[in-house]
Amino acid sequence: MTSEFKLAPSILSADFSDLGQALSQCESGGAPWVHVDVMDNQFVPNLTIGPPVVKSLRPKTTKFLDVHMMVIDPEKLVEPFAKAGADLITFHIEATDNSMEIIDLIKSTGCQVGISIKPSTSLAEIEPYYEFLDLVLVMSVEPGFGGQGYIESSTSRIKAIKTKLKEECLQDRVLIEVDGGIKLHNARKVIDAGADVLVAGSAIFNTPDPVETIKEFYKV
Ligand code: DX5
Ligand code: ZN
Repeated sequence: MTSEFKLAPSILSADFSDLGQALSQCESGGAPWVHVDVMDNQFVPNLTIGPPVVKSLRPKTTKFLDVHMMVIDPEKLVEPFAKAGADLITFHIEATDNSMEIIDLIKSTGCQVGISIKPSTSLAEIEPYYEFLDLVLVMSVEPGFGGQGYIESSTSRIKAIKTKLKEECLQDRVLIEVDGGIKLHNARKVIDAGADVLVAGSAIFNTPDPVETIKEFYKV
């Protein structure tokens, strides 16, 4: 599907006893990416998916596996997720003092690389790394749980990142992904602000017909 944005359904809100079905729904709806939320109960107060789950998902889909690591010591999990079959690995700027080393490590595995930023962290923290990235993941909720409300000040942050990427002629090379509280009713605003990839968990998997909901996202 060619579109002005990519949809990345977050399987955090899917039925964990039947992730195969969640993948089929992404397939049938036409979502190009699948977003995998990795939480360690330290960086965030929740515990979710590790490399073995990604390894099981990999042969069941050709979709782009977008791994969002919300973990401390992210460098320890880069190789395991790369070997498990991740296509892109994102870590949090707040989780490390060695961002450049982690970027290089992720690239060395052949995966694409993203940095994520929490809602209250200054954008100045990530700006020095834009030229080395494939993606910037803007959190529009506090990371840790699905089903929260979109933090409105995220919209101006997305616009500011887009402006900076344009100033550096990086807007075609570095994608902006927005994660948290994305629903059918606010997706258009987020796209217009500059998002290239929308993550949506509860807005897709908590509806009676996730396949239909994915298709609805492409009509906003
Ligand atoms: C939250 C996760 C999100 C989450 C989004 O920490 O990073 O990816 O699944 O869920 P919704 O779309 O329900 O806000
Ligand atoms: Zn996420």
